[in-house]
Amino acid sequence: MLANKTIVLGITGSIAAYKAAELASKLTQAGARVEVVMTESATKFIAPLTLRSLTGRLVVTSMWELNSEFSIEHIALAEAADILAIVPATANIIAKLAAGISDDMLCCTVLATKAPVILAPAMHADMFQNSITQENLAKLKARGFTIVDPAYGRLASGKMGLGRLAEVEEIIGTIKQVLGKSGDLAGKRIVVTAGGTQEPIDPVRHIGNRSSGKMGYAVAEAARDRGAEVKLIAAPTSLSEPAGIEVIHIKTAIQMNEAVAKATAQADGLIMAAAVSDYQPKSVAKAKIKKKESPSLTLELIRTPDILTEVKGNFLKVGFAAESEDVVANAKQKLEKKKLDLIVANDITDASSGFGADTNKVSLIDRNGNVDSLPLLTKREVADRILDRVVELLAKKARR
Ligand code: CTP
Repeated sequence: MLANKTIVLGITGSIAAYKAAELASKLTQAGARVEVVMTESATKFIAPLTLRSLTGRLVVTSMWELNSEFSIEHIALAEAADILAIVPATANIIAKLAAGISDDMLCCTVLATKAPVILAPAMHADMFQNSITQENLAKLKARGFTIVDPAYGRLASGKMGLGRLAEVEEIIGTIKQVLGKSGDLAGKRIVVTAGGTQEPIDPVRHIGNRSSGKMGYAVAEAARDRGAEVKLIAAPTSLSEPAGIEVIHIKTAIQMNEAVAKATAQADGLIMAAAVSDYQPKSVAKAKIKKKESPSLTLELIRTPDILTEVKGNFLKVGFAAESEDVVANAKQKLEKKKLDLIVANDITDASSGFGADTNKVSLIDRNGNVDSLPLLTKREVADRILDRVVELLAKKARR
């Protein structure tokens, strides 16, 4: 989704300016045209040549130099931008923008642009928390700027505090979210579940499964990038928190059931990519179960709720079917039994699909019995193919 987008990257004078190089590199690799505008103080922290080499574009550092195609007609940059991101944004640039000052190329471009603007502040915690900075940020937020909040951590002064530039991945996620606001899922509320639930046996052990959560996270991110308001109900995974998505962390099937019921009260669609444990131990031992002389141990298991069957509401329901035999036939049965609109069936015995892999080979089966067998795709591509069908089914539902 970043391909062929023009991203104006404003860099201001903070020690975190070097991280803008990583951002510029990743955005360029994703196919975006990255136009860098640096303030004079930013050039004290990182060389324009670095950004020029990473983006393959001329870097603008002043209103007055004539070595850029934009330096005379600075409005051209403002008009060309699909989005403008200031990373890192110092207290100074935040104050200048809040006051409408236009004494350098970056301020002028922000003032002149109609494109959305993202600010990723980075500064000493005391400067960030100062009420002047907070008021300026609130003012910009109210005007439609998107702020990527700084993180807590070690600051340049050596102290700990809130002021570290947000992670590059989070900034990219926010850029995608903002760019996707006019996508085909704009205004839709989508609930996604991901990961494998864990059912406790005692304080240190649980029954789990091999779900990595990658498929569900890919669906949640793709829905966000297409403009949806996404709630992700996630069982434990090792994946990092996606930007622009409300993540509700749960562990057990019962907790997931409760979270799904609550989140879907106002949803347009539910996509259940989670691998929900069908059974849980009948009782959870209060203390760690000790090894006994007997060569065997019996655990009594009871059924967990079937979330897709139990959930109530007139929203679109998409399930997954992880099968090891008769994939399509078994998935069709699940679609009927759970009254789904669409089911995503995959063969978990195939090494290139299913648990842990970055790719997946699935068939999409709808209520009319149509079976669309997709080739081997990345999980993100699969997510977009599922969402293509979700968009289509939501439109049909609206017409009914
Ligand atoms: N699912 C659910 N609640 C459960 C178990 C599964 O909502 N307790 C959902 C899954 O998230 C998935 C779909 O139902 O979207 C099918 O899950 P799957 O594990 O393939 O099927 P089961 O119904 O558990 O049947 P079986 O394990 O016997 O194949």
